[in-house]
This record gives sequence, C-alpha cells and structure tokens, in this order.
Amino acid sequence: MQNRLSTTTLGRLCLRKGSVQASRPALVFQSRWASSTGGAATSSPLNTDNQSKTGSQPTYGPIGVAAALQHTSSSSPPTPTLFKHEFALTDRVALVSGANRGLGLEMALALVEAGARAVYCVDLPKEPGEEWRKVREFAGRMEGKTGEGRMEYLSGNVTDQEAMWKIGELIGEREGRMDACIAAAGILKTHTNCLDYPAKQFREVMDVNVNGVLFTAQAAGRQMEKFGNGGSIILIASMSGTITNKDHAWVSYNSSKSAVLQMARSMACELGPKRIRVNTLSPGHIYTNMTAAYLDTQPELLGKWASLNPMGRIGRPDELRGVVGWLASDASTFCTGSDIIVSGGHHSW
Ligand SMILES: NC(=O)c1ccc[n+]([C@@H]2O[C@H](COP(=O)([O-])OP(=O)(O)OC[C@H]3O[C@@H](n4cnc5c(N)ncnc54)[C@H](O)[C@@H]3O)[C@@H](O)[C@H]2O)c1
Repeated sequence: MQNRLSTTTLGRLCLRKGSVQASRPALVFQSRWASSTGGAATSSPLNTDNQSKTGSQPTYGPIGVAAALQHTSSSSPPTPTLFKHEFALTDRVALVSGANRGLGLEMALALVEAGARAVYCVDLPKEPGEEWRKVREFAGRMEGKTGEGRMEYLSGNVTDQEAMWKIGELIGEREGRMDACIAAAGILKTHTNCLDYPAKQFREVMDVNVNGVLFTAQAAGRQMEKFGNGGSIILIASMSGTITNKDHAWVSYNSSKSAVLQMARSMACELGPKRIRVNTLSPGHIYTNMTAAYLDTQPELLGKWASLNPMGRIGRPDELRGVVGWLASDASTFCTGSDIIVSGGHHSW
C-alpha cells in the first residue's frame, strides 16, 4: 500500500512537470547523461531536479543501466565497469590503524590489491613485524595490480590525538590526498567481573577502542576535508557492540564497541555534506592474535563459538576483504552511517 501510494504520488509529480517517461529512473539518468555529455536528450526540468537530489554520477562516465541506455550500435563494444571502476581504488591513499598484524593487516593488503596507490599502516611497535614485512614484499611483487600498491609503516599510538593528527598531516603532505581510513586498532582484556571492574582497566580499553578510533578517524577525516575529494572511513566495531558474547565477562570491550557504532552514525551525519562517509564493520568471531589469547588457551571454546552461528564455524580474516573493498570504494557511495555485520549469522540467532 505504502509503495503503491508513493509510486502514484511520484507519477503525479512527473506528470505535472510534463514528462511521463521521466518517472522511470533509468531514463532520467539517460537524459541527464546525454545532456551533460552532449548527446541527444529530451530537455526536461526533471533533469536538474534529480541531479540535485541524487548527486553527480561518477567522473568515469555513465555506468550500469544508464550506460546501456546511452550506448548505440555504432559505439565501440561496452566493457564491464563494476570491478574496473566502481570497486577499483586506483590511485587512492589510505590510513589503516592496527595494521601491523591481524585484521588491520589483512584489510591493508586488500586495499593494495584493489589498486590503492599507498596504504599507511599505523601500529604501536617502532618497527613493523616479520608478518607485515612479508606482506609488503608479497604486495610489491604482485602482478596485475591497477595501482602502485605501496605499503608504508608508521609507528603510532592511536590514543595520542596530537600524534595521530600529525600522522594524517604527514600522509596528506606526502601524497596530496586521503581517500580511505580503517580504524582497526583495538584491545580485548581477560574476563573481568563487571561489578568489580577496575577503573584503570576500563579506561584503558575505552582509550584505545573508543578515543583511539575517534582520533584515527579525525586524522584521516581532516585530510579528506582539506583535499575536498570526499572519502570513506570504516570503523572496526564488533558484533559485541550489539550482542553480548555468551559466557564472556567483557563489559569494557562490549561497551567500547557499542560506542563505536554510535560514533560512526554521528560522524556520518556531520560529514555527509562533505561526501565523507562513515560506516562500521562489525565482525563476528575471527581467528587472530586477539582471539587466539582465548582459543589457544581454552581449546574447547572453538567448538562453542562455532556452534553459535548457523555456519557452524568461526571466520577467517580474509573473509573481510570483500566488504572492506566495497566500503572503501565507489561501489558503496550511497552507504553511510551503517553497520555491516559479518558474523556468519551469529547475530541472527
Ligand atoms: N578477531 C575478532 O574476532 C574480532 C571480532 C570483532 C572485532 N574485532 C576488532 O577488530 C580489530 C582488530 O582486531 P584483531 O583481531 O586483528 O586483533 P589483533 O590484536 O591481532 O590486532 C590489533 C592491532 O591493534 C594494535 N593496537 C593495539 N593498541 C594500539 C594502540 N594504542 N595504537 C596503535 N595500535 C594499537 C595492536 O598492536 C595490533 O597490531 C579490533 O578493533 C578488534 O576489536 C576483532
């Protein structure tokens, strides 16, 4: 009923503006493209209206149905654009925190493979670890990348706002742009009873998982604002920001992740007009050093965690590559203020 009503209303609006055809979105795009690229197009007042409503199309030209409708048999054969353009990070620059290892490192490599020019990995150690070096070497030798694919390492503590802003400035000065940010640095403590939770430890977790995420997003976001190209900020939250992990006394972690969810929504609303998108990615159980602290010392937990989702297993870091590529790229230009849960369905039960 709701849909029928809105379709009718839209139809009436279109008729009043003098174009029945323009009520079909594909044709609206076609006319807009045709007029902006000099092709034959019906001139309709709706074109201007819709352009201001939908934002501009990508600079690389019409895509999808709009491209098909504009195509003529005399044009050269069309080629797919989805991976070549929308998902491609060609020449983009990114900052990833917590990227010396684990999910941050996995995501940094994904950005490189998607065509990024440079991915700056920020983490605590003065020098990057063996794993990071190996990944950089692997990325350096990779053939068929659509971008330079440079991996850089910068030592930094996400809880130091001034230092993080300086890191952002350094990247901006060196690269002349900032396009994507993944705030992946985070910590998880051992079980601690919520009624006895020590203030110092609670503050420590909140400092890294909440303040540090904000300072990382600021570091990149300030540069995105400066260069005016928009950008995509991905805050790594967790399904633990929405559900409580059964039998785990993680009040500080869970609270911190919940704060990150609202931080993203809040930042997304402020930064939308600047075309800076802010989303959260909320993984379920993934085997990394963080979870190994539990799984390697309490092997019975693996079966238990696996049984808590319909897939019957825990996840691998590489299973986050696609979603990060999507969120960082133009394939998700209308997605902001959203939480993308990748939990093997854990949250559905
Ligand atoms: N592994 C999972 O199952 C899982 C699930 C949901 C969410 N997450 C989140 O994903 C993110 C990455 O976790 P992971 O599993 O890769 O853990 P990890 O421990 O392997 O990696 C975390 C990285 O963050 C870095 N870090 C910690 N404090 C820092 C600080 N103050 N400044 C800079 N870097 C700092 C660490 O040195 C480490 O390299 C975290 O935010 C975590 O909460 C993980």
